[in-house]
Amino acid sequence: MGWTDNLFTGIHEIDLQHQVLFDIVARLEQAVTLDDKWSAVHFALVELTNFVNVHFAVEEALMRLHCYPGLEAHIADHKMFSTVLAEIKKHSIREDVSAEMTKWLNHWLVNHIGIADHAYVPHLRTAAIVSTPLG
Ligand code: FEO
Repeated sequence: MGWTDNLFTGIHEIDLQHQVLFDIVARLEQAVTLDDKWSAVHFALVELTNFVNVHFAVEEALMRLHCYPGLEAHIADHKMFSTVLAEIKKHSIREDVSAEMTKWLNHWLVNHIGIADHAYVPHLRTAAIVSTPLG
C-alpha cells in the first residue's frame, strides 16, 4: 500500500500534496516499525496532522469554488480521518502507536484518494474556470 500512479488525479497541485502525505505516512510507518523513540512517531503524526489540514482545506476550497455536489459528504469523510488521526496522536503520548494504526491511515488515504478524490475530478474539469489552472 502507499502511493501508486493510479492515484494520480491529473490536478498537479493535488497530486503533489497527496505524494507528500504518503511520504509522511512512510516516515511514520518506518518510525513505528523500527521502534524509534516515541517523539519521532509523535512528531511524524504532528507533521501529518498539519499537512493534512492544509490539504483538506485546499481541496474543500476547490470543490466549494466549483459547486461540487458531493462537497458535504467529502468534508464528512475528511473530518472522520482528522478525528481518528487526532486520537492516534493523543494515544502516541501515552502508549506505542501500533503498525495497525499506521496501516489504517495508509489504507484510508489510498481508498479515499482512489474513490472520493477521483470522483470530483470530472466535475472540476468540466467547470470552465478551472480548465487552465488545474492543468
Ligand atoms: Fe485528497 Fe479528499 O483528500
